Amino acid sequence: MKWNRRWSKGLKAVLGSESRQKYFGDQWGIPDSETTFFQRINPLRITSEKLAQVVETYIEPYVTPNSVVLEIGSGGGRWTKYFLNAKETTVVELNPEFFTYLRDRFDGSASRFRFYTTTGYELDGIPTESVDFLFTFGTFVHIEPEGIRSYMAHIKRVLKKGAIGVIHYSNKKRIRAKLNPSFSRMNPSMMESLVYQNGLKVIQHDAKLLNHSSIVVLQK
Ligand SMILES: C[S@@+](CC[C@H](N)C(=O)[O-])C[C@H]1O[C@@H](n2cnc3c(N)ncnc32)[C@H](O)[C@@H]1O
Repeated sequence: MKWNRRWSKGLKAVLGSESRQKYFGDQWGIPDSETTFFQRINPLRITSEKLAQVVETYIEPYVTPNSVVLEIGSGGGRWTKYFLNAKETTVVELNPEFFTYLRDRFDGSASRFRFYTTTGYELDGIPTESVDFLFTFGTFVHIEPEGIRSYMAHIKRVLKKGAIGVIHYSNKKRIRAKLNPSFSRMNPSMMESLVYQNGLKVIQHDAKLLNHSSIVVLQK
């Protein structure tokens, strides 16, 4: 938990006058731009082509102008920007400093944003059966199984019947996750257990697209 609080310091660095980066999150790659030299040579970075596939496969099919979206761990909005056409997007963050940042960045859509500061692994402020699409990327990779277990019960509660969730998480079966101490000790079979234990279904499970992490698509 303490480790996950550190992101707001990163935000200050990005906003500082020394920074040449446009938005917080660009340092991890931008889905709709060219892969940078740094992304290409750093084995812990994902190419922009792969990030674009995440958008095409795991966001676009599920988000419509009628969707109520919930994003956990938005950071600077690297993925939030793909929810701007949704009916409503609730952003859940451990570090609420990002809320002001998102309001400024997506000024024209801010009226359709809702914000919830979690104490860690809960969604107590989100109404039951209110969400059509849940998305989290780059956040659960740093959350240990106990935290994901807690979140999963809340996810089950807040999703509408038939609603979809897309969760990107650490896969310690892959060498690049093993080499990264900031990645949590998760793997695909642990994730499937957590999904099924909460009465949710796995409808797609991708352990190949990314070299240190996996993406599960679940349904209530
Ligand atoms: C690595 S950043 C990723 C941000 C964004 N999803 C992206 O891909 O650019 C992780 C984000 O998750 C947030 N976070 C960390 N732990 C969290 C938790 N338990 N619940 C919600 N958000 C959390 C951090 O504040 C940070 O904004």
